[in-house]
Amino acid sequence: MKDETLGAWNIADLTELARRRLPKGLFEFMHRGNDDEIAVRDNRIALERIKLKPRVLRDVSGRNQEITLFGKQQKMPIVIAPTGSVGLAWYEGETAIARAAAAAGVPYTLAASSMTAMEKVAEAAAGGSWWFQFYMWPDRSLSHQLVARARDAGAEALVFTVDTVVAPGREYNLRNGFTIPFRFTRRNVIDVMMHPRWLFGVLVRYLLTTGAPRYMNFPPHMQTRVGALPMGRSVQSNDTINWDDIRELRKLWPRKLVIKGIQHAQDAVMAADCGADGVVLSNHGGRVLDSTTAPILVLPEVVEAVNKRLTVIVDSGFRRGSDVVKALALGADAVMLGRGPLHGTAVGGEAGARRALNIYREEIDRVMALIGARSVADITREHVIMPEMNGPVPA
Ligand SMILES: Cc1cc2nc3c(=O)[nH]c(=O)nc-3n(C[C@H](O)[C@H](O)[C@H](O)COP(=O)(O)O)c2cc1C
Repeated sequence: MKDETLGAWNIADLTELARRRLPKGLFEFMHRGNDDEIAVRDNRIALERIKLKPRVLRDVSGRNQEITLFGKQQKMPIVIAPTGSVGLAWYEGETAIARAAAAAGVPYTLAASSMTAMEKVAEAAAGGSWWFQFYMWPDRSLSHQLVARARDAGAEALVFTVDTVVAPGREYNLRNGFTIPFRFTRRNVIDVMMHPRWLFGVLVRYLLTTGAPRYMNFPPHMQTRVGALPMGRSVQSNDTINWDDIRELRKLWPRKLVIKGIQHAQDAVMAADCGADGVVLSNHGGRVLDSTTAPILVLPEVVEAVNKRLTVIVDSGFRRGSDVVKALALGADAVMLGRGPLHGTAVGGEAGARRALNIYREEIDRVMALIGARSVADITREHVIMPEMNGPVPA
C-alpha cells in the first residue's frame, strides 16, 4: 500500500522534501522572501508569540471545523492561496492542487500567472470551488478580458492582489540565474541535471506534451515561455493602480470580490466602501516588501474597523493548525495557506497537496479539542494572549 504520509509528519517535513526534489533556483524562488527576509521571520515570530489559553471540561466530542465563507459551507477554515509557480513544482500542479482542495472541501485560488489554463483547472475543481487571482496589467483592458474569462469559466470569487505595484527585490533569483527569458548558464543547467525527478517528471513532461511551460492564461503575446526556470519578472507590474480600479471591478465582476494584500485597517475600510466583499490581510508571505508587520498582528484592529462589513481572511506564515486557530480566535473568517500546500504539491502532486491539507486538518482538530472548542464559533478571543501581554521581548 502506498504510504499516504509521504514520509512527512508536518509542514516543515514537506518543505524539506520539496527542497530535495526541486532545483535550487526553483526551490529558492518558491520558498524565500525578499531583501533581508525579515518579514518572513517576523511572520513566524508573531504567530509563535501569540499564546493559547485553553478552557477545559467542555465536552469537545463530535467536533467539526466547518465554516460558512461567502455564504457557502466548507469543511475547513482555510483557503488555498494563489501561488504562481505551482505548475512548475509539479506537472500541471494547478489541477493537482485543485483536485486535492475539492476533496478536502476548501476553495482553491488559481493565480493568473499559472502554467495551466483556467478552464482545465475549473474541470479539475469540479464539485469544489475555485477562485481566480490576478494582478492589474498596465493595459487594463487586457486584465478586464482576463476577468471576463474567469467569470465565464466559473470562478466563484475574484481576488485582486494589490501589494505588488513594482517587482520585488529578490537577489537570490539573480544569483541563481533565475530570469525570464531563461538564460542557460553552467550553474542552472547543472542544478537542473542534479534533480532528475523534477527534470523528467516536470520539465521533460511539459516539453513532450504542451511544450515549454508558459503562462497559459495570459494573452498570447504575453505568454513568455518559462524555459526551465521562472522568476515572475514577466508579470508586468502596474504602479498606477488605485481605488477606482476596485470600483470598476465591482461593476465588471458579478460574484465575490476580494482584495488581497491589505495591511492597514483604513485600507480595509476603503475596500468595503468601494464595494469589495472581502480582504486578505497579507504581506505576501514576506515576499514583496520587507520589514512589514506580520498580518496576524494587524488582524484585531482590521476586524474592529470593518465591523463585519467585510469577510476578513489572513495569511503569511501559517505552518501549523495552532496558527490557524490563533487567527480564528482573533476574528479572522478564514486563513489562506501559501507555501504549505505548495510544498506538498511539489513533493507529490495531488497526493502531496492532500497530505498538506490533512496535516492542517488534524492539527486544527487537535488544537480545537485541547482549547475546549467544539466548533469554529467556539473559538474566541478568550483563547489567545497577544504578545504585548506576554511582557517585553526577550533580548
Ligand atoms: C511561490 C509563491 C508564488 C506566489 N504567487 C502569488 C501570486 O501569483 N499572486 C498572489 O496574489 N500571491 C502570490 N503568492 C503569495 C501567496 O498567495 C500568499 O499570500 C503567501 O504565500 C502566504 O504566505 P505563506 O506562504 O507563508 O502561507 C505567492 C507565494 C509564493 C510562496
